[in-house]
Amino acid sequence: MPALHPIGVYDSGVGGLSVLRAIRDALPGEDLLYVADSAHVPYGEKSPAAVAARARAIADRFVRLRAKAIVVACNTATAAAIGELRALHPGRIIIGVEPAIKPAAHLTASGVIGVFATTGTLASPRFAALAQREAPEVRILLKPCPQWVRLVEQGELEGAAADAAVRQPVQELLAAGADVLVLGCTHFPFLRAAIQAAAGPGVTLLDTGAPVARWLRHQLQTRHLLNPATAGRLELAATGNPRALARAARALLGLDLPVQPVPAAWC
Ligand code: DGL
Repeated sequence: MPALHPIGVYDSGVGGLSVLRAIRDALPGEDLLYVADSAHVPYGEKSPAAVAARARAIADRFVRLRAKAIVVACNTATAAAIGELRALHPGRIIIGVEPAIKPAAHLTASGVIGVFATTGTLASPRFAALAQREAPEVRILLKPCPQWVRLVEQGELEGAAADAAVRQPVQELLAAGADVLVLGCTHFPFLRAAIQAAAGPGVTLLDTGAPVARWLRHQLQTRHLLNPATAGRLELAATGNPRALARAARALLGLDLPVQPVPAAWC
């Protein structure tokens, strides 16, 4: 029965756990398969073609595992490949994540918003179209932060290193007038405390974990694919070092789970 099939969720590394956390909260009965493509992290500094090739490989794997839905819990991969994945797997629920430009445009009082994301996301035609469509009247300041991805992968979420890494980019966007900051990479919610401390309490930070989880629930509901179970299973897998994902799941989700190294055929 397809409602009992799992949902595949992936990212380049541990960042997608910020989306997975929201999915577990919104859909506690679902079985979830999470893949960290950590042999290929960071995606943000790779070509769109390379990121899309990884998206195809991982989606194929999820399809073989009979996933009823696939969540691309990565802004960079969504920008590079979401259209192609939907064309390759018509009829399957395929959900991506995009920077929260629309709510930011509604919330700003200064008319200036800042977006922290990867180089790949900010350079993508998909992001340009999103900004044009959702915020034509707003000034959007772009800030690629590849070093933040590294910090989160290393588990440095708070303390001197995190504070030092976020201080200058945050100050720069605030000095240019931004009053809303968009966390446009799924790794960045894990630096939220450091970013909020640098920005001060009057600045709103936006990420998309909860809205993506609600959209996934809506899609499942519409197709009568909600799993009626009360407690779903979670399986973690990594194409790179399994220990980094196990540590992140402990630190970020409070879960002590084994991580499967994925078969070489994936890579
Ligand atoms: N977490 C990813 C994103 O949302 C990618 C980070 C990376 O691998 O560079 O864009």
